[in-house]
Amino acid sequence: MCGIVGYVGKKPVLDILLDGLEQLEYRGYDSSGVAIKCPDAIKVYKAEGKLSNLREELAPHAYELAKSTMGIGHIRWATHGAPTVINAHPHTCNCGNLVIVHNGIIENYKELKEELEAKGCVFKSQTDTETIAHLIANIYGEVKDLTKAVQLATKRIQGAYALCIMHNDEKDKLVVTKRNAPLVIGVGEHEFYVASDVPAIIKHTKRAIYLTDNQVAVLTPETMVLQDENGKELTPKVEILPWEPVALSKMGYKHFMLKEIHEQPDVIRNILVGKLHTSNSPIILDEVKVNKETLKNLNRIQVIACGTSLHAAMIGKYIIEDFCGIPVDVEASSEYIYRKTVTDEHTLVIGVSQSGETADTLTAIKQSKARGSHILIITNRPDSAMAREADSLIPVSAGIEVSVAATKSYIAQLTSFYLLALYMAEIKSSMPADKLTELKSGLLTLPQKIEQILAHKENIQKCARKYSSTRDFIYIARGINYPTALEGALKLKEISYINATGYPAGELKHGPIAMLDETMPVLSILMKGSVYEKLLSNSEEAKARNARMIALTNSDDEKLDDLFDYIIRVPEIEELLSPIIAMIPLQLMAYYIAEFLGKDVDQPRNLAKSVTVE
Ligand code: G6P
Repeated sequence: MCGIVGYVGKKPVLDILLDGLEQLEYRGYDSSGVAIKCPDAIKVYKAEGKLSNLREELAPHAYELAKSTMGIGHIRWATHGAPTVINAHPHTCNCGNLVIVHNGIIENYKELKEELEAKGCVFKSQTDTETIAHLIANIYGEVKDLTKAVQLATKRIQGAYALCIMHNDEKDKLVVTKRNAPLVIGVGEHEFYVASDVPAIIKHTKRAIYLTDNQVAVLTPETMVLQDENGKELTPKVEILPWEPVALSKMGYKHFMLKEIHEQPDVIRNILVGKLHTSNSPIILDEVKVNKETLKNLNRIQVIACGTSLHAAMIGKYIIEDFCGIPVDVEASSEYIYRKTVTDEHTLVIGVSQSGETADTLTAIKQSKARGSHILIITNRPDSAMAREADSLIPVSAGIEVSVAATKSYIAQLTSFYLLALYMAEIKSSMPADKLTELKSGLLTLPQKIEQILAHKENIQKCARKYSSTRDFIYIARGINYPTALEGALKLKEISYINATGYPAGELKHGPIAMLDETMPVLSILMKGSVYEKLLSNSEEAKARNARMIALTNSDDEKLDDLFDYIIRVPEIEELLSPIIAMIPLQLMAYYIAEFLGKDVDQPRNLAKSVTVE
């Protein structure tokens, strides 16, 4: 969701900015732009839609821009105002001397805008961001110092922002600041890079500085001055990024999503290494910093997350309650933060997030932390804002996920929840030893079973083609796989725009059954175990209403052939581990339907990978 880049140094800036923006494309965007410092003045170029449009816009100017060595760039995910050229960043003040890019939302922009209009500022766009450009420029007019103007202006701003700013009268100077939005500064030789995320800088440098909220950094090719919001000088802390500069390549797959689905067996293997050696050895989870006595006596856990991570959290609840007997509440972060929650120092709060930057989850985590709860974060980004709030950090190590629709990070989150639940069950002695052994042994077999599913993906592809013309899709399941139904439906919705919904199968007859007729596909996630027969009955009910029945099952029960029009079979697995196995065909199903429909699989419309606004 919006990405900013900036560069000041000795190298030609244009390619650095465009390449950096390309590395941030995964965040989701609908327009883009750059501002380049040229010998006479700063020049701004913008385009609607994909970065290729911006490249086209820039092509005729390549020669005149070739020598420029300072600039800022932006990909915008529209919040205030449509995704048009006028609303695209960078934004400027009246005279065009000051140029900014912004990630975040300014909550009090209406009041500020009224005030600035009264002073003669003329707004060209519908964005909240333009207010900041005018505000800083106005203050600059009085103080004649960009850093000071930024510090004074941000004191008046309510909301979230990461900002990168240039001014025609401040030679070779980039000013950056942030509050509740991600921003990293890359430190090179006689140069600095600025970005919303590491992929945009990692190929240039591994030395980085993470700004904390309200800090202001002033960058020139040779110097960096770091100050707090009042101008007090601070010493920057340079960290070495734990990243390799891997090119974000599709490795021969048509889309990143398909590649990431295929990476899942190795993702699980990587997570288990060092934590689960054999089915008879105890789980090693040194990342959990809650002492064992406290864990034993824990009487409440809250899990907070959004989107796909919320579905992983729902399965986490199921297994922690089953394995450990501890009550677990799961809540969407956006709901959690606006009610009076009962959280205290006796509650373990688990935040789950692929990006570690999701604004709602981050706010929820900060609220719980302020109430004294131990914060355990499960994230794919150990360098993220949430990771920095963590008392215990379980990095899920899925590797960077480029496709907006989460796949491997979900499977990695689930694997981490299994390890956590088994680890706590061992400490609490809440599960019979033979059951523990069976589950651990099952976990170790998961990668191979997923490989078996991937080896037979043509059957899923065929199924996807058969149902791709539908406008609606229903997924049903019970028990531990109810969240799988939600996640399967979410995947399909996200990338194919088909109206897909997941239901607990027992609820079908309380309303959704009215939707069923011969046009409606109903997919039953029919895993052998405690609710198998019940779900079979619910599937019969749907069949009796002429729905087009699909089974995703690990049963070879012959009676399924009469009940279902299409059957996707997966390998045998213990019911409690089945959400991981069941999810793979659902990811593939969504992928193949979207691909067949010719959708933009990796960057679906309206979606952002990292949602940094509430
Ligand atoms: C966005 C993404 C989803 C993701 C959700 C939560 O909506 O498009 O794929 O599940 O954010 O993100 P997080 O990074 O916190 O897991």
